Amino acid sequence: MKNMSNTKNGFTSKLGFVFAAAGSAVGLGNIWRFPYLAAKYGGGIFLLVYILLAVTFGFALMVTEIAIGRKTGKSAVKAFAALDKRFSFIGYIASAVPIIIFPYYCVIGGWVIKYLTVYLTGQGVEAAADGYFDSFISAPISPIVFTCIFIFITAVIVLMGVQKGIEKVSTIMMPVLVLLAIAIAIYSITLDGAWEGFMYYIKPNFADFSIKTVVAAMGQMFYSMSLAMGIMITYGSYMRKEDNIETSVHQIEIFDTAVAFFAGMMIVPAVYAFSGGDKDALNQGAGLMFVTLPKVFETMYGGKIIGAVFFVLVLLAALTSSISLMETIVSIFSDKLKVKRQVICIAVMLISAAVAVPSSLGYGVWSNVQLLGRSILDFFDFISNNIMLPITALLTCIFVGYVIKPKAIEEEVELSGKFRLKKLVRIMIPYVCPVFLVVILISSIIGYV
Ligand code: PHE
Repeated sequence: MKNMSNTKNGFTSKLGFVFAAAGSAVGLGNIWRFPYLAAKYGGGIFLLVYILLAVTFGFALMVTEIAIGRKTGKSAVKAFAALDKRFSFIGYIASAVPIIIFPYYCVIGGWVIKYLTVYLTGQGVEAAADGYFDSFISAPISPIVFTCIFIFITAVIVLMGVQKGIEKVSTIMMPVLVLLAIAIAIYSITLDGAWEGFMYYIKPNFADFSIKTVVAAMGQMFYSMSLAMGIMITYGSYMRKEDNIETSVHQIEIFDTAVAFFAGMMIVPAVYAFSGGDKDALNQGAGLMFVTLPKVFETMYGGKIIGAVFFVLVLLAALTSSISLMETIVSIFSDKLKVKRQVICIAVMLISAAVAVPSSLGYGVWSNVQLLGRSILDFFDFISNNIMLPITALLTCIFVGYVIKPKAIEEEVELSGKFRLKKLVRIMIPYVCPVFLVVILISSIIGYV
């Protein structure tokens, strides 16, 4: 990867960096994944654990990754090699993660496009009917077609290299998404019977706490903040030396967490309202956003239009993330292979589309295929988030904590001013994070979660 000064991709302002990183961070993870995990893992207690982890663990790791990127001016594989040749393997492991996530992310992106077309063609009422979502995702062809459309749009944008355009679009769209989410969330909690659900969502009930809560919240935090997969390293390599890493990370985190919070507030109370507080309804997992929100929109005045606007914004959020995933994959291969970027782009597009097919079929004709007791898509989600991310994060912490030492990170952050939470990073990276990560890994491996 190139250095700031000689790349057209270099960010020209701190705000540009923050929005691009936030664009990568804010995605389906916030709107689709966070609410169903919060619903499943105890509501308020999950929210509390998540926020605590984000401001300590997430903060320390994000600062570390961005600093590594900016210090070396390189993407993951070469960044680790530049710091210490013996550790370039960490870069390889990190790089494998987006390769696993991208195809199945596009399957969900395809579902979003489907729902958008449903609202644009005035079929909101049908979408709110029971069983609509299940019959859509279990069909053999149609979800795959939508997945391919999503991959294609992503690939076209990556091919054109219009990051700047996307950056501009997300600068306008992201605030609109937040406002719309707040509006829908407020509406959601005024539904009959939703208040109890809202309380479930924000009031921590310590009886619901278990190690599962921590493991799930941790996996979600990595995913949502695009950590431990080389993305923040790459983005850091594009950052200007004079921009402040610490305040940027605060801004990205606040953005990311706020969107997740309001997404949960749109969905969790509404599920309560429609199911009368039935726990099974809260546990339905991946389909929560697609099943519940159409019902909310149906009861809303002007719901059809709001539904359409909502899915446009979700699509944009998903696209800014999928672009960062595909960019990372393409840049890994362009760093390694002496092949034109365009060729790599097309190859990544075609291979990802092929790999996405089983994930999609796993909800239909291949639903009997279970890997570690999970559907194919959930299996990829689990392997990347619960196994590979903790491994990469653990290796990164050990590497920074004991090989290059936190001082190296501090120096990089201090190039642009005072590092106020220096002590936090000094304690988290070498001592606290590794312990947590080992616990998480073991519980994931023994199948506790
Ligand atoms: N952070 C993104 C989200 O919340 C997902 C993502 C993961 C994006 C990995 C890029 C890389 O949806």
